[in-house]
Amino acid sequence: MKRYSTMVDSYDDKFGSGMYAANGYSLYLSQSTILRCIEEICKRQSVHMPITIADFGTADGRTSLNLLNNAITTIQEMSGAAKPVMIYHEDQATNDFNLLYRVIEGTEDEGQDRLKLSSSVFQAAIGRSMYEECLPNNSVDLAFSSIVVHNLSRRPCRIEGGTLSCDGNEKEKALIKEQSAKDWERFVYLRGKELSPGGYLVVLNCGVDKTGKNLHPISGGMPRLGKLLNTMLQDGLITQEEFLDANFDVDIYRTEEDHSRPFTHGGMAKQLGLELVSVRSFINTLQHPTFDIVDKDAAAKAEYAERVVAGIKPWFYHVIYNGLSEKRPHEERKQLTDLYFDRMRAFAYDNHAGGTEIPLVETVVRKRL
Ligand SMILES: C[S@@+](CC[C@H](N)C(=O)[O-])C[C@H]1O[C@@H](n2cnc3c(N)ncnc32)[C@H](O)[C@@H]1O
Repeated sequence: MKRYSTMVDSYDDKFGSGMYAANGYSLYLSQSTILRCIEEICKRQSVHMPITIADFGTADGRTSLNLLNNAITTIQEMSGAAKPVMIYHEDQATNDFNLLYRVIEGTEDEGQDRLKLSSSVFQAAIGRSMYEECLPNNSVDLAFSSIVVHNLSRRPCRIEGGTLSCDGNEKEKALIKEQSAKDWERFVYLRGKELSPGGYLVVLNCGVDKTGKNLHPISGGMPRLGKLLNTMLQDGLITQEEFLDANFDVDIYRTEEDHSRPFTHGGMAKQLGLELVSVRSFINTLQHPTFDIVDKDAAAKAEYAERVVAGIKPWFYHVIYNGLSEKRPHEERKQLTDLYFDRMRAFAYDNHAGGTEIPLVETVVRKRL
């Protein structure tokens, strides 16, 4: 079985591979959990029944490709090569599904495997929000999702002091927490309805670990992202409205307890026959040659700064770009967004913050037989 290192690769401007690098293959820290669920499903199913797998928030499919191939191998070893397998790749309708298909076909990246489709293994894509019904009730054996469900379904308020909830005042923080709890509960409810009896849901979210550690991708942590944008406001490059509109609509501060809540409060989970198998938090420590060098020379500083930007840009570019007024031409919005990341690069060049750690929370749910 292919092993994954958490070494982050070099920056690539394409959304997909940038994302791949930024996440440091976090999904693979849940691979053994997911394959164990597959084994349990194979043990109880007759050889002819299809196994249905759904990847929610698949993006370009690069991250999950090898995991899906390992799942297909496990199924075929346990249930025979003729066992039907149906794989769904889900993401928002705005996702680049053409890129997804090039990744599935193995034509996008040199040396990359293709998805092992065959006369018994099928695939389809779903362009619909994860906060809507995506598949028929009782039809999915294994649903999984990595680094996706921290995205909120809507913006409950604007964060006046920065770009995300860590910059908010108490009232703004409370509104985001309320939205976050509703969204997580809704996601569990929708996926719970879709699960077949005996099926599993495995979700890996950015979150907070037991010690309270949260994502820290740059010196100064997440508040640095809003502070850097504020320098552009102070310099008269963007307007106050644009600064206020550039919000990152996520909750990356959910704890293990927050993830458990749909199972400990209210009757939804019980009604659907869902049981919480486990919730665990852990850290994905990204590695890069320059992370450990404290006294860097100019070349190491430049490489380090590039790596910091590569780790943030894939998931933050749209926040800055979309915050800018639609009255500005596309080119101007692009230039201003690039300028923001130039400032981030310059800041990272001057300020060492060691390596990036991604605190994650893995939640495993099973639907009773
Ligand atoms: C950080 S990427 C994760 C990609 C991949 N799962 C991984 O582990 O690398 C987040 C993905 O979530 C998707 N996403 C955000 N909001 C969504 C929604 N409401 N419904 C479905 N997908 C969503 C984005 O389009 C993006 O592809």
